[in-house]
Amino acid sequence: MVSENEVPTGSWISREPTETAALGERVGRALRGGEVFLLDGPLGAGKTLFIKGMTKALGIEEEEVSSPSFTLVNRYQGRLTFYHLDLYRMPQGAVATFAVDLEELLSDARAVIAIEWAERVGSFPLPPTTWHVRIEGDGEEPRRITIARLENDASPDRSS
Ligand SMILES: Nc1ncnc2c1ncn2[C@@H]1O[C@H](COP(=O)(O)OP(=O)(O)O)[C@@H](O)[C@H]1O
Ligand SMILES: [Mg+2]
Repeated sequence: MVSENEVPTGSWISREPTETAALGERVGRALRGGEVFLLDGPLGAGKTLFIKGMTKALGIEEEEVSSPSFTLVNRYQGRLTFYHLDLYRMPQGAVATFAVDLEELLSDARAVIAIEWAERVGSFPLPPTTWHVRIEGDGEEPRRITIARLENDASPDRSS
């Protein structure tokens, strides 16, 4: 049975902004709290649009949702609490401070966390309920969106 209650994983082609938002909405319907989404992709890929789909499914007004480029984190309240982070403008060297805040957010089991430019998180212990959302393509080209459950080898003790 294909369950509406599971975060879909796989790879999709999105030819329109609405298709990207619709996939986000499908993910949003599966949320229960405690999930983390790491979004990567170039500027203009559709990361914020995907998140708008997720938040729509939680009953959050679309106008509320925009990339928190200067504040780093926005908090929305719907069926669940939703933290929207965007690390694009995170200053160099701020990673350690940010990690403290992320730990605080992660302690809220009824919250969902979505992070744009997640590659800037660095290595940080994330819950097993973490997914990677990669969006490839920008401009007018179709997007390839890949949703994958984060492997457990993403733990920080993987020394580099
Ligand atoms: N298939 C598509 N999926 C997502 N966005 C698209 C698509 N085609 C064109 N776009 C446009 O790309 C832009 C994506 O913006 P945004 O979601 O803010 O990107 P990001 O947050 O990744 O920087 C929007 O202007 C949107 O209309
Ligand atoms: Mg954005």
